[in-house]
Amino acid sequence: MIVQGSSLINEPMAKHTSWGIGGPVLAFVRPESRADLTAILALINANNIPMYIAGSGSNLLVSDEGFNGIIISLAKTLNQIRFDGTTCYAEAGVMLGHLVKESIHRNLTGLESLGGVPGTLGGALVMNAGAYGSEISNCLVSIDVVHQNGVVETYKKEQIEFDYRRSSIKPTDIVIAAEFQLKRDDPEAISLKRINASSKRRSSQPLRFRSAGSVFKNPKPDLSAGFLIDKAGLKGMHHGDAEISEKHGNFFLNRGEAKAEDIMYLIQKVKKVVKKKFNIELELEIKTLGFEKEH
Ligand code: EPU
Repeated sequence: MIVQGSSLINEPMAKHTSWGIGGPVLAFVRPESRADLTAILALINANNIPMYIAGSGSNLLVSDEGFNGIIISLAKTLNQIRFDGTTCYAEAGVMLGHLVKESIHRNLTGLESLGGVPGTLGGALVMNAGAYGSEISNCLVSIDVVHQNGVVETYKKEQIEFDYRRSSIKPTDIVIAAEFQLKRDDPEAISLKRINASSKRRSSQPLRFRSAGSVFKNPKPDLSAGFLIDKAGLKGMHHGDAEISEKHGNFFLNRGEAKAEDIMYLIQKVKKVVKKKFNIELELEIKTLGFEKEH
């Protein structure tokens, strides 16, 4: 079988994660088209190879030992956007920031508060990414997924459950595109919303450093994991080159040569201290891959 897109063998995931951390994978594959993706899935299924779908790696911790399977990335390949009036149809590999920019350019409102959220549309949908009171599912109409057997199916929004940072989209279904219903608005009003969101983000989040955004989910809507980590006195703690940000307690930074092991050490430490001090079990918001026990 010939795969049209690129396929990198024994590729270090450090090159493909926002943390710049992660050992090698059997193959890192970027399918060039839907047909290509279907062909790769057939190959993976026939050979029973472990597989993981990655967006842009902005929410992913891969172990230092790597992952003995194939990672499929749709970023940089399935990245078409089409507008028809106030309807927007975008492929899963589109970067959120780009989608927001294109919408604003057409005076369309609905997505602008997600402007500074790193990552692809596909990843954002699976985890129902959100910021400043709005979630990606809010103006969603439908998504197209490819099942493991290569069949494409469209799900209406009502057929999918969306909650805080989760959706009922199955890990074995690959989101390839989505349709949104946006609204026309005054360009100045849209710009103002985007500027507000990005200035709040700049003032509270350490955006100049390598991170994966929020490491933990907020335990309750009005109780932030960052606040708990802060109150527990853990900000600034480091292990190797990994550091809990002084600016925002839920951001863990790679200050140079941090290993997955260093980040994992901080994760375990934070969980333990927060449990002891507040009797709260923090849950990971990031995805982990290649660890003995998936977290
Ligand atoms: N806080 C502290 N100390 C800290 C961090 C936060 O006291 O070190 C306090 C803040 O002062 C504020 C409250 O905690 O009163 C909430 O903080 P913030 O507004 O920064 O929001 P968050 O709950 O920590 C969530 C999302 C972010 C998203 C922002 C803005 C989660 C896990 N995180 O953070 O999303 O950008 O709201 O909407 O839901 C991400 O998902 O990766 C992410 C960055």
